[in-house]
Amino acid sequence: MKELDNLNKIKKIDNDGMLEVEENFYKQLVEAKKNFDSVDLVKVSGKNYKGIVFLGMGGSGFVGDIVKSLIKDSSTIPIEVVKGYSLPGYIDKDWLVIPVSYSGNTEETISCINQAIKRGATILYITSGGKLEQMAIDSDACIIKVKGGYQPRGAIGFLFLPALLALKDIGIAEISDKEINGALSHIKELAEKFHRNVETGKNFAKQLACLIGGNLPVVYGTSGYLSAVAYRWKCEFNENSKTPCFWAEFPELNHNETVGWQRLISTTKEFILIVLRDEDENMRIKTRINTTIKLVKDNFSEIVEIPVEGSSKLSKALSAMYIGDIASVYLALLHGVNPTPVKKIEKLKAELAKLD
Ligand code: PA5
Repeated sequence: MKELDNLNKIKKIDNDGMLEVEENFYKQLVEAKKNFDSVDLVKVSGKNYKGIVFLGMGGSGFVGDIVKSLIKDSSTIPIEVVKGYSLPGYIDKDWLVIPVSYSGNTEETISCINQAIKRGATILYITSGGKLEQMAIDSDACIIKVKGGYQPRGAIGFLFLPALLALKDIGIAEISDKEINGALSHIKELAEKFHRNVETGKNFAKQLACLIGGNLPVVYGTSGYLSAVAYRWKCEFNENSKTPCFWAEFPELNHNETVGWQRLISTTKEFILIVLRDEDENMRIKTRINTTIKLVKDNFSEIVEIPVEGSSKLSKALSAMYIGDIASVYLALLHGVNPTPVKKIEKLKAELAKLD
């Protein structure tokens, strides 16, 4: 029996249930969509915003990355993502500010919200509680309150979908119901294929984890939604699998990183390159990727190309993200690592709290 098919063993390692969270991602999206129906957006609707800015860090910060990548090409106003303590000077009262913090207590996000409040910006809070919920109540602002009890990265459906639906409702995101429903069905199909009950021989997510094995993953995406997804893969490998992981995007990586794969070959022979490939990539990008693979192939233990399919950009983005999310959990379990705890993040936050 293959390691990841030993269900008793993986259940013992995964004693906080991250694999179940991933297996239930489709249900999470359905629940998030249903909960969104009761959100009142009156306070953020009917305004001519100069721009939209997402605030957030880590798992919550990814919401801004992915939403921006999906809507920026059709948006007539800037969509920005701020990950840090300071709000850019040009964000004023005419901007819509969307702070996303699952815990509601992330200090960088709170610092930016305070600056946004001083400037009189409109704020749409997305959180499961904490200080953000209190700030929304105190300022009588619009809030999307999401279900608590998850790790922030495991609650991505609860955080991401309402952000996108809110921007659709207020006329900023051009996403049809057909695209949303199509994306959800796609996730349902993948969840069945990647379920723990499906043996490694037929389960691509388990196979990918086994292929990565003891190697260090390097993930390449392409500028746009696959860049956001490549970054998500990196973060999921870090937090779930507790492994170093690096990422970069085409075409930029062709102007620097491609040259870097020359020295330290005995080290990089223990790296595996994972390339996310949109089935509809244009000829120039296709040529770049194919040529890059030829140029660097001897520097890696292996190169894996992940075909990204879907009926829309949303479907492709969510499904590509999902493959990485679930593979990162299987990689943790393969190495006997509980994917849920992030003790170093907690320790860091505790040190910072002492400064208050
Ligand atoms: O996954 C994690 O635990 C982190 O990346 C958090 O998302 C990050 O520290 C920010 O916390 P929060 O999502 O609660 O704002």
